[in-house]
Amino acid sequence: MNRPPALLVRDIAQLVSPSGTSAPLRRRDLRTVDVLEDAFVLCREGRIERVGRMRELGAVASNVDDLDASGRCVLPGLLDCHTHAAFAGDRVDEFSRRAAGASYEELHAAGGGILSTVRATRAAGEHGLQEVVQRHANWMLRAGTTTFEAKSGYGLDRETELASLRAVGAAGGVPTWLGAHAIPPEFDDGEAYLDFALQEVLPEAATIARAADVFVEDGAFDAAQARRYLMACRDAGLAVRLHGDQFTEQGAVPLAIEVGARSIDHLEATGVDGARALAASTVAGVMLPASALFLGRPMPPARALIDAGAAVALATDFNPGSAFCESLPLICSLACTQLRMSPGEALAACTVNAAHVLGLADRKGRVAAGYDADLLVLDAPDWRYLAYHLGGDLGLEPIVAGTRALP
Ligand code: NIG
Ligand code: FE
Repeated sequence: MNRPPALLVRDIAQLVSPSGTSAPLRRRDLRTVDVLEDAFVLCREGRIERVGRMRELGAVASNVDDLDASGRCVLPGLLDCHTHAAFAGDRVDEFSRRAAGASYEELHAAGGGILSTVRATRAAGEHGLQEVVQRHANWMLRAGTTTFEAKSGYGLDRETELASLRAVGAAGGVPTWLGAHAIPPEFDDGEAYLDFALQEVLPEAATIARAADVFVEDGAFDAAQARRYLMACRDAGLAVRLHGDQFTEQGAVPLAIEVGARSIDHLEATGVDGARALAASTVAGVMLPASALFLGRPMPPARALIDAGAAVALATDFNPGSAFCESLPLICSLACTQLRMSPGEALAACTVNAAHVLGLADRKGRVAAGYDADLLVLDAPDWRYLAYHLGGDLGLEPIVAGTRALP
């Protein structure tokens, strides 16, 4: 077999990794970042073999590729633990209508919104879906995301849901079955749709996806329907997650705790009691500030959650309607400017804690020996430029499994 050569990333100005070895990180641990100056990372066979200071490097074998990172920083490759990258078409007309005053909920209730993307995604076909998911994966990689999760949920029929999950896997993503995203027009109500989804789609979806997700909201699924869906998915071996408290509190936090969910995502409408209950539980809270910004909604209560001890992650929510944004560095900026998080907290939330949400924390999210060699080289003198340079060019060079990932 042709093995990729080892890679030495050398003369790194700042090598940065969230501290410790455990996951998820909470409270003080969330903001503690190890910074090693004048450092190297040696990668071999897809893993990180050694990390240290240049003066400790010693002799290096000749069959090693060299990446000179002088004046640059190296961080863990970013993990986007919540995207809806499996969609076709766009919603740019809807975006313009919202700019002129229409609300997201109004457009959704009138059959636009999610259901308009369902029409485009069903029409794309398996090959079309594979192309578009790969295009989205390339966008994410260029923005520094070396591992992405992506949900189905714009098919809502058997064929398109399964094709979406396969397309995510083919593009190297972690597939999540969002079989309960909206009620498609061919069903009268949520119960009838769930009868179909759980009988006809779940058995095969469970062989492709790693997790299942449900949108708990007025006009989508209520808590009782979500409980039925999540318990069936859990019985089929999937980890479970929820979209909850995006617009209104509908009991999604207690439900997430009851079913032992990996995460509850959104939380823009979460009140004091919900934040407290979540913080005391094992359920991670995934915050999606681009979605709040894009829809002009309140930001999630990040500070209250973190200070109460919640395990929080950050993600883009990349989708055509509520967050057409694939950039985790921009999310880190929003975390620091809108959520009152520190750069260290933001970094941990889209590395270690995002890896935890995806069940990958034993091998992704840190720059340390034994972890996957997924790195991000940042062309800046200080790693905090990741959040500081608002929407700017960070000169990113992602490395995936010890190989430079961009042409
Ligand atoms: O996470 N809230 C539900 N789903 C997506 C939006 C989907 C869409 O508007 O197409 C979200 O924001
Ligand atoms: Fe989402």
